[in-house]
Amino acid sequence: MVTKSNYRQMVDNEKGVMDRRIIVSDEIYKQELEQVFGRCWLWVGHESLIQKPNDFIAMYMGEDPVLVTRDSKGKLHTFLNMCRHRGNRICRADAGNAPSFMCTYHGWTFATDGKLVGVPGYKEAYFEELDRSQWGLVEARTDSYKGLIFANWDNTAPSLLDYLGNITWHLDLCFDRSEGGSEILPGAHKWLMGMNWKFPTDNHMGDGYHVAITHGSILGAGGVSGATASGTMNPTMPRTLARQRLAFAFGNGHAVTGITPWQGTWSADPNNPVSKFNEEHKDEFRRHLGEDKAKWQPGTFAIFPNLVISNPAWSGSLKVFLPRGPLSTLGWSYYFVDRKAPTEYRDTIRRYQTLMHGPSGIMESDDQLPFIQATGTARSLVGQRYMINQQLGIGHEKQHEEIPAMCAPSPSEIGQRGFYGFWAEMMDAPSWSQVKLTPRAKNV
Ligand code: FES
Ligand SMILES: [Fe+2]
Repeated sequence: MVTKSNYRQMVDNEKGVMDRRIIVSDEIYKQELEQVFGRCWLWVGHESLIQKPNDFIAMYMGEDPVLVTRDSKGKLHTFLNMCRHRGNRICRADAGNAPSFMCTYHGWTFATDGKLVGVPGYKEAYFEELDRSQWGLVEARTDSYKGLIFANWDNTAPSLLDYLGNITWHLDLCFDRSEGGSEILPGAHKWLMGMNWKFPTDNHMGDGYHVAITHGSILGAGGVSGATASGTMNPTMPRTLARQRLAFAFGNGHAVTGITPWQGTWSADPNNPVSKFNEEHKDEFRRHLGEDKAKWQPGTFAIFPNLVISNPAWSGSLKVFLPRGPLSTLGWSYYFVDRKAPTEYRDTIRRYQTLMHGPSGIMESDDQLPFIQATGTARSLVGQRYMINQQLGIGHEKQHEEIPAMCAPSPSEIGQRGFYGFWAEMMDAPSWSQVKLTPRAKNV
């Protein structure tokens, strides 16, 4: 029997073991929607996707459909995509620009700031007695960091900055390396996967261990340099740098794997548009980020609970894993680039990331089956009796001297232990006042 107060026992970070029921139990999943997705800051978009007044995008917070808008005065909002009358969605488009949303059931109409501005039959049928000021859209707290927009249903939650904590150090490397920051390329890949949302998330944040095995066929076929044949990139990392790789737990469930000394680009071709851009702008990156940050190359990482970012060294792939029950996950994948990037750079990133990380990408395809099968064995009668092993590198963590995080030589499951440890804390804590957040360091 799972009760609301024993998740820290199910995720035992001292022994490095974890109960498989946290992956597949319906009861735990329902609590997860409330305790994690109902209380944490969740990624809902990027400011570059809604630049103009009255721009909007559709997203989900957990299973709840939301609309992220920029109102007519330029302010960001996140609303439940639910008409306050009988609950029809007020917008069925993925993205667009509109001064208001008219529900297609009975016609209630809401402005992009959430106010109810139109009610058919207001005089004749409601006799002007409906208090329209009380029936605006349900709104979540909304804030942004370096263009990334997050929303939160819980008014008692800490600020976005305190929630992100020290991972802002790494977000700066990825999204703010030059004046103007980054932007997301239009369009997204969207697909449904038969797995629990936590598996793809924990893989991206810290699983340097699987690369040589799961992706062995790619490496055996000449490494990811095979991508150069289609005119994209060669991100082969020199062995000396590979040996310097570290895995990091930044606190509050956020984790990174593979931060290394900066190497400009992973492309072997100096004429590659991304290599050229990085070379031409390296002084600007140093000025903008400062020497202390600019000397590091970012790694693949996750922001708790469900945002992951792959290969961010030259601009990368950004995915959000949306839960659809304990055994099903919706993946939405975007690509981001430096805002100043020229067309050839953008084309290179789009081709490369689609080849690697789209729903049929060669990396993504390799990864899907282990996540699906690990979800399946967690559900099996006998498999469920045995714990998940999460002991890789346990006891070899230490505070990094310059980077504000705990680190361990990669591969290590330090990131997964941090992620599931924070997950258990959120699941156990009756209120935010009982959640221990990692304080922000002075150099973030
Ligand atoms: S459900 Fe939207 S107007 Fe009736
Ligand atoms: Fe992988």
